[in-house]
Amino acid sequence: MGENTKHLKILVIHGPNLNMLGKREPEIYGHQTLEEINAHLKSRASEKGLQLETIQTNHEGEIVDQIQKAAGTFDGVLINPAAYTHTSIAIRDALAMLKMPIVEIHLSNIYKRESFRHKSLISDVVTARISGFGSHGYLLALEGLVQML
Ligand code: DQA
Repeated sequence: MGENTKHLKILVIHGPNLNMLGKREPEIYGHQTLEEINAHLKSRASEKGLQLETIQTNHEGEIVDQIQKAAGTFDGVLINPAAYTHTSIAIRDALAMLKMPIVEIHLSNIYKRESFRHKSLISDVVTARISGFGSHGYLLALEGLVQML
C-alpha cells in the first residue's frame, strides 16, 4: 500500500468550533482534542506513505478559499464543515467544483440530533460520508478515501 500511495496528498478541513474539541460538549463530541485527532490522522497517513495536511478555521470564506486551492494541489479531501454543513451553499458550490474524492465526516450522528442538523447541503456533492463514530470516524474516513484514490 505504502508504495502506491506515496505521492498522494490529502487535505483535512475542520470547520468552526472544532478547535474546541475535548472541552466542547464532550457527551456529544467526545474527549479527544483536535490536536490528538490530527496526530492520529498524521501517523496513520505516514504509515501509508501519504502526505496529509490539516487546517481548522471558524470562517466560512476561509473554507471556500482552501477548497479552491485544493484543486491541483491535493488528491483527496476529508471535510467536517461542522455547523456550515447545514447552512453553506458557498462551501457546497466550492466542493462541487473539485474533481477528486471527498469524504464528509461528522463526529456525531447528525440524524439522531436536532432536526436542523438532518440536512447536509454537501451530501450530494461529496463521494462518501461518515457520521456517528466519534473521533474514530476520521481514521475510517481516511481509510475509505485512500481506497478511492
Ligand atoms: C458536527 C455536527 C454539526 O451539526 C455541528 O454543528 C458541529 C459538528 C459533527 O462533527 O458531529 O459542529 O459536524
